This record gives sequence, C-alpha cells and structure tokens, in this order.
Amino acid sequence: MKPQDTQPNLPRLYRVQQSRPETYDTWTLESEPVDGTDGLSFAPGQFNMVYGFGVGEVPISISGDPANPERLIHTVRSVGAVTKALCSLRRGEELYVRGPYGTHWPVEAAVGHDVIVVTGGVGLPPLRPAIYHILSNREQYGRIVLLYGARTPQDMLYTSELKRWRARFDIDVETTVDAAKHGWHGNVGVVTTLIPQANFDAQHTKAFICGPEIMTRFTIAGLLKRGVTTENIFVSLERNMKCGIGLCGHCQLGSVFVCKDGPVFRYDQVQPFMSKREI
Ligand SMILES: Cc1cc2nc3c(=O)[nH]c(=O)nc-3n(C[C@H](O)[C@H](O)[C@H](O)COP(=O)(O)OP(=O)(O)OC[C@H]3O[C@@H](n4cnc5c(N)ncnc54)[C@H](O)[C@@H]3O)c2cc1C
Ligand code: FES
Repeated sequence: MKPQDTQPNLPRLYRVQQSRPETYDTWTLESEPVDGTDGLSFAPGQFNMVYGFGVGEVPISISGDPANPERLIHTVRSVGAVTKALCSLRRGEELYVRGPYGTHWPVEAAVGHDVIVVTGGVGLPPLRPAIYHILSNREQYGRIVLLYGARTPQDMLYTSELKRWRARFDIDVETTVDAAKHGWHGNVGVVTTLIPQANFDAQHTKAFICGPEIMTRFTIAGLLKRGVTTENIFVSLERNMKCGIGLCGHCQLGSVFVCKDGPVFRYDQVQPFMSKREI
C-alpha cells in the first residue's frame, strides 16, 4: 500500500510528459506519477492543489478524460506567480499534486435529460471531463448543447477539439468572442447571447456553468428566462484557496467552503452568496 492510499492529502510527485500551448497565456500539462503508480481516479469537475516548486500551490481543475486517468491533465492560464511557474514547466520537469478534491458535475443525475453547458474563458477546462463523459455515454442523454465564449479568437482553448465536436451530429457546439478583428467569421458577442436560440427542452434540462462570475450570473438569468429551474442549474465557483480541504477557511462563502462543499454547487444552494467576491 502506498502512503497516498492512507493519506490522500499527501502531495504526490508528478513528472510532466507533455506541455502544450493552448493560447499565448494558457498551457496544458500532461503528467504522470514519478513513482510509477496508477493515475488518479477523479470525477468531472474536481480539482487538484498543484504546487510549483519554490513558488506556491494553487487549485487547478482536472481537464482530462475521467475514463483515462493514467495521465493527469491540467490547463493553466498564467495570471500570477504560481500559474506562471506552472505554465513554464516543460517535459521532464516535476510538480507536486494533492487531491482530487471537491464536488463534481452531476453527470449521473443528468442521465435522461438534455444538458446545456455554458462556459467562458478558462471555464472550459473544468467542464471538459463532463463533456468527455457525456459523449462516451451519449445514448444515455437527450440533446447536448455547448456554448463557449472567449475574449478574442486568440483566447479560444481546445480549438481542434471544438472543431471535432462541432463535426459530430449529436452535440450542438456554438462559440462566440467578445471582440474580433477581420478574418473571424464566427459569432461576436457575449456567450449569453447564444442562450435564446439554443436547442434544448427547458423542462428536462440540466445546466452546467463555469466562467467568470459576471458571466455566470447573466447565464443563470438567461436560463431562468428560458424556463430552466434553479434546482437544475449547477455552477462551479472560484475562491482563493490555501488548504483545499476545508481547514483554513480561506474559501468560505457564507455558510459553505468552496473547496469541500464545492466547487460545483446546485445554484439554489449558493444563490444568496453569489454576489460576494470574498468573505
Ligand atoms: C476550484 C478551482 C479550480 C480552478 N481551476 C483552474 C484551472 O483549471 N485553470 C486555471 O488556469 N485556473 C484555475 N483556477 C484559478 C487558479 O487557481 C488561479 O488563477 C490561481 O490561484 C492564481 O494564482 P497565482 O499565484 O498564479 O496568481 P495570484 O498572484 O494569486 O493572482 C493573480 C491574479 O489572479 C486573481 N486570482 C487569484 N486567484 C483567483 C481565483 N481563484 N479566481 C479568480 N481570480 C483569481 C488575483 O486576484 C490576481 O488578480 C481555479 C481556481 C479554483 C478555486
Ligand atoms: S481552502 Fe482552506 S477551507 Fe477551503
């Protein structure tokens, strides 16, 4: 038995097998455990605490396929010291990983329903495992809609994968950018403008939302207007974290801790706290 089996909060050493630029500021890292043990089983929407040597530790969602957990995949946007250090890691370099932690997208409860996924910017990586799961079990679900917004075409993640998904006939993929120069032939406008035309049955739909908080709030309003009920809307929230396991109180939001009660919440559970940035 490995120490991690009895002490799940012990950091495990991983080695980067591949680091790939997604955009000018966002990289995808694929890593494997240095000790040769099995990869981490995880549920779609869970996150790791990831430690960049000598710099610090931050929460990063797992963005790979839950059916193939051998390689641990994270997509990281460089916004500060730790994420910059993680984005600079190259093949053969090492990082420490704790977790997986947190709640997950309710892909089982969504069986038999339509699913609409609405996401913006670096909100797509936490939802990608749910999309993989749904597409691998496609016959269990109704209509599937993915609405994805980015600031500009250059900020769009996973462009080849989006193209592949768009080519399928069993998922509606719509993308948009806030602003574009000449050469962009797609939608322009915030992602919420795609909601009124989206093809789903509001009475039988589960909605998964992840993105900047302002986007999340307007998306919820758009979905409620279409008739989706609050108990069928799920949001992934971000708060600054330190321990990731419900001990330090850093991520407290009203009566909940985002690290252990979330990050995925049913909307009616967090509705009263949604406007508060930090408590
Ligand atoms: C559950 C969870 C999952 C996450 N998944 C991912 C992911 O898959 N990919 C990814 O790139 N990022 C993800 N993040 C955000 C990531 O943790 C932060 O970008 C990171 O902590 C910033 O640390 P830093 O040292 O690089 O920058 P800092 O110097 O700490 O911050 C740089 C800037 O980013 C802002 N910032 C810091 N933390 C957050 C945050 N949590 N939310 C919003 N703004 C923040 C700061 O206010 C500051 O303006 C996730 C966060 C949470 C809570
Ligand atoms: S990060 Fe410490 S309690 Fe959530």
